[in-house]
Amino acid sequence: MAQHAHTLVAPSLLSADFGALNQAVDLVNVSQADWFHLDVMDGRFVPNISFGFPIIKAIQARATKPLDVHLMIEHPELYLRAFKEAGANVLTVHLEACTHVHRTLSAIRDLDMKAGLAFNPHSSLDVLQDLAPILDLVLIMSVNPGFGGQRFIPATYRRIERARRLLHQNGGEDVLIEVDGGVSVSNAAELKKAGAQVLVAGSSVFGASDPYEAIKDLHQA
Ligand code: DX5
Ligand code: ZN
Repeated sequence: MAQHAHTLVAPSLLSADFGALNQAVDLVNVSQADWFHLDVMDGRFVPNISFGFPIIKAIQARATKPLDVHLMIEHPELYLRAFKEAGANVLTVHLEACTHVHRTLSAIRDLDMKAGLAFNPHSSLDVLQDLAPILDLVLIMSVNPGFGGQRFIPATYRRIERARRLLHQNGGEDVLIEVDGGVSVSNAAELKKAGAQVLVAGSSVFGASDPYEAIKDLHQA
């Protein structure tokens, strides 16, 4: 199993203090984190509303690391250029929210962003057989999307292994596997072993007494 030597860590700002957003961005900037993970929710695809373009632009103006934007919205295809203009480097859409997923992923790449596809915990990974060659990232949800601070679903380990296998068999050797939801220092090592290459962590970072150390611990796990 090809495992990247260096696992990426992407703190989710959803769990940060939005009244002190600049400090949260600065903290991620100086930490060992690799990306910013930004969760966009529309109150329709998921039962929660988070933030949109003005917040992403404010983060982008201060961030010194790539923005990994996770869209939990219906009809993401309508807003691809707007997310590019707001500063997204990686743009991930949900399989369950896309009728023309191949077209949407291709359009993301045409805009010079990395194309990501997210899978809810119930969604079959079989489409990877067809989509592997046009993907840059696969996001395996390890909770039901919509909220930070939820409990990790253990079936995720097997799903990551299966995603890795399907990608390898279908021309997606270089596609990164990201895991999102309930990730902490207690499951990070096992997730890496299963094949996760990007760890998203919200509450285990920003809920920690020392977020800077929590990021370091995820790297070292
Ligand atoms: C959930 C979001 C996650 C969330 C993770 O729908 O996609 O990125 O911020 O939060 P934790 O790490 O607290 O589960
Ligand atoms: Zn997310």
